[in-house]
Amino acid sequence: MGLFWYLYIDYFRIMILVTGGTGLVGSHLLHFLSREHSEIRAIYRRTSDLNGVKKIFSFYGGDSESFFEKIRWVEADLLDLSALEDAFRDVTHVYHCAALVSFITSDYHRMRRVNIEGTTNIVNLCISNRIQKLCYVSSVAAIENRGEGEVTNESDHWTNTAGKSGYAITKYGAEMEVWRASQEEVPVVIVNPGVILGSGSWHKGSGTLFSRVAGGLPFYTTGVTGFVDVQDVVRIMISLMESDIQNERFILVAENLTYRDVLFKIADSLKKRKPGIKINRWMTEFIWRFELLKSKITLSPPLLTKHTARSSVSNHPFSSQKIIDTLGCSFAKMDDCIDRVVKNYKSDH
Ligand SMILES: NC(=O)c1ccc[n+]([C@@H]2O[C@H](COP(=O)([O-])OP(=O)(O)OC[C@H]3O[C@@H](n4cnc5c(N)ncnc54)[C@H](OP(=O)(O)O)[C@@H]3O)[C@@H](O)[C@H]2O)c1
Repeated sequence: MGLFWYLYIDYFRIMILVTGGTGLVGSHLLHFLSREHSEIRAIYRRTSDLNGVKKIFSFYGGDSESFFEKIRWVEADLLDLSALEDAFRDVTHVYHCAALVSFITSDYHRMRRVNIEGTTNIVNLCISNRIQKLCYVSSVAAIENRGEGEVTNESDHWTNTAGKSGYAITKYGAEMEVWRASQEEVPVVIVNPGVILGSGSWHKGSGTLFSRVAGGLPFYTTGVTGFVDVQDVVRIMISLMESDIQNERFILVAENLTYRDVLFKIADSLKKRKPGIKINRWMTEFIWRFELLKSKITLSPPLLTKHTARSSVSNHPFSSQKIIDTLGCSFAKMDDCIDRVVKNYKSDH
């Protein structure tokens, strides 16, 4: 083959790097990417659960093994710059999904390191490797909420950190790093999903909604927040990366629902008893204080923290109008998403 054709093909070659590929978002993203692309690299850690990723691939049916085999796994922690440098070799596009998600106060400094310093490392490598595009998974937590019941959108910028969770502060700090990349000629897109529901990871994050209801969760709250299907999140991330859109951020929320709506729907779908005890605002204030004290005595993580308690009774709806207008996309109904996730939960238990 002539040199011209070699350079021509090389110019259009795509090599994708995914961080957080062993998490909920990253695993589903890798499955969607592996259907379309042959050169995919993902970072993992020695403690990561690669079998969990295989399990998530299997929920999609078909030849999930061969899709999984397409991924080249490279061991690298977000804080290990030299391992990350190896992972970045020949990479053209980066999806940065890795983060530490915690609402426990004592995790704050670790979260600052992983979420902010880790993103600094990713951004610096994107700049030095002249990456063609970076997609960062942020959160609605990094957007300033309007008052109770008022619909928040992307134009609601942070004013200060008062009353914000450590998680929110670190996701916002990470976004600032990603905007720095855009100033250094790396095109970026940021997505800000609400609570993501999807199959897998049953014992952490939003997956615990399914395992707790299955286990007979007795309580519910009536706070409102935005929910979205993980499949919509990853489809939109890929569409944004394949588009000319750059240096924009998008809220991804399919429906604003009460926690009660979601827990009742999960219970219906699982054919389990619905939670029967409503927890109101003053009760949550008591419970999180009790849980804090208990966690200090027993050295075990609290079931409810100040921030999870307060957000479970707050009414904070979000608008996804910007992404709908930009991509012309629509979102799956959360009822259908929950039915699908419950089907996979049952097949796994
Ligand atoms: N789930 C939600 O409801 C939700 C909502 C809004 C935004 N988000 C955002 O979406 C992204 C993905 O969330 P998720 O639900 O998929 O989280 P997850 O299931 O907890 O997965 C987190 C991922 O980050 C990786 N990770 C953590 N610390 C790392 C480190 N020091 N070095 C390298 N990798 C590290 C984990 O690797 P290991 O497997 O090795 O631990 C895992 O792959 C996060 O940025 C989160 O903030 C999530």
